[in-house]
Amino acid sequence: MTLLERVGIELPIIQAPMAGVSSPAMAAAVSNAGALGSIGVGATDPEGARGMIAAVRARTQRAFNVNVFCHRPATIDLTRESEWLEQLRPQFEHVGAKPPASLKEIYRSFVEDDAMLAALLTDKPPIVSFHFGLPSAERIQALKAAGIVLFASVTSVAEAHAAVQAGVDALVAQGYEAGGHRGVFEPDAEDACLGTIALTRILVLRFDLPVIAAGGIMDGAGIAAALRLGASAAQLGTAFIACAESEADAAYRQALASDAAHHTVMTRVISGRPARCLRNRFTLWGAEIPSHRIPAYPVAYDAGKALNSAAKAAHETGYGAQWAGQGAPLARAMPAAVLVAVLAEEMAAHRVLSMRSRD
Ligand SMILES: Cc1cc2nc3c(=O)[nH]c(=O)nc-3n(C[C@H](O)[C@H](O)[C@H](O)COP(=O)(O)O)c2cc1C
Repeated sequence: MTLLERVGIELPIIQAPMAGVSSPAMAAAVSNAGALGSIGVGATDPEGARGMIAAVRARTQRAFNVNVFCHRPATIDLTRESEWLEQLRPQFEHVGAKPPASLKEIYRSFVEDDAMLAALLTDKPPIVSFHFGLPSAERIQALKAAGIVLFASVTSVAEAHAAVQAGVDALVAQGYEAGGHRGVFEPDAEDACLGTIALTRILVLRFDLPVIAAGGIMDGAGIAAALRLGASAAQLGTAFIACAESEADAAYRQALASDAAHHTVMTRVISGRPARCLRNRFTLWGAEIPSHRIPAYPVAYDAGKALNSAAKAAHETGYGAQWAGQGAPLARAMPAAVLVAVLAEEMAAHRVLSMRSRD
């Protein structure tokens, strides 16, 4: 049985989970259009996750994916955190504010969140996907025993190997081009920064598991290319940011449509983990800052969010977590279901074209 048959979708297209950007309405619209919609619950608590799952189910009978963050829980380092807040002080002052007195670990990792596991086992979404690592064998076993199909984001062969050993059902090969947080399991380890084409092809040849290509794929030509590499499906995030159902605010949408889309950067200053963002005032400021000065994820994100909300109150939009992949200039603003239909048409046209070019 193919991955598409197993999860019951018609099109080899997955709308990426995007905590804070994708919405239950987007996921349901995408699934209803024949692709696979996803929600990201990494930034909410179990009650919030259950509410989002119910909101998807109220809009569709079809399969959807629920994504959780599996980062190593943060190591608190009060000295580094207070030095970081001091380093950020001029940025807060620039927007007429002061840094907070201390920082918190704002998100609980799924690896230690028993209540989130219980919520997923109760609600049984058809698919659960992991980002930033893998939960324990017991958690994986419990999810599988509940009949849930499991995906894991991986950025290297070593991470893919760990995911295969853990028993996941499909690998999301996330290339360096990808928007948002890099799924690396260990943010301080050496990163070979593999691109989507190389990573997808290596994983397809190395592992006997469906591979989903992610990173820089924006249209049907890109999806067809991923399938030609042997991927079972393509996962697109940035392509959906400008959709009607997206939670991206007006400044984010404007930045995505501007010259900034041509200059995405990998930065840690916003959250404490590497993530690809549209170049803005905050990423420019952070370009020269060594990683060891930045508090761990998601503690640094508490500061980044405080700075962004103070900045927005002062009508300064250059501090937002405006995540986007290298394909950002190709983003299109339309309802998600229309985008899925356009992607399917383009994909079909490109597959015919590529077959003809082989005649
Ligand atoms: C705004 C945004 C938010 C994201 N949030 C998540 C998330 O919560 N969980 C996750 O697994 N991946 C997240 N990602 C990464 C996507 O799963 C995917 O790897 C990426 O979007 C693919 O690259 P592309 O953006 O170039 O299509 C996010 C990506 C973006 C652009």
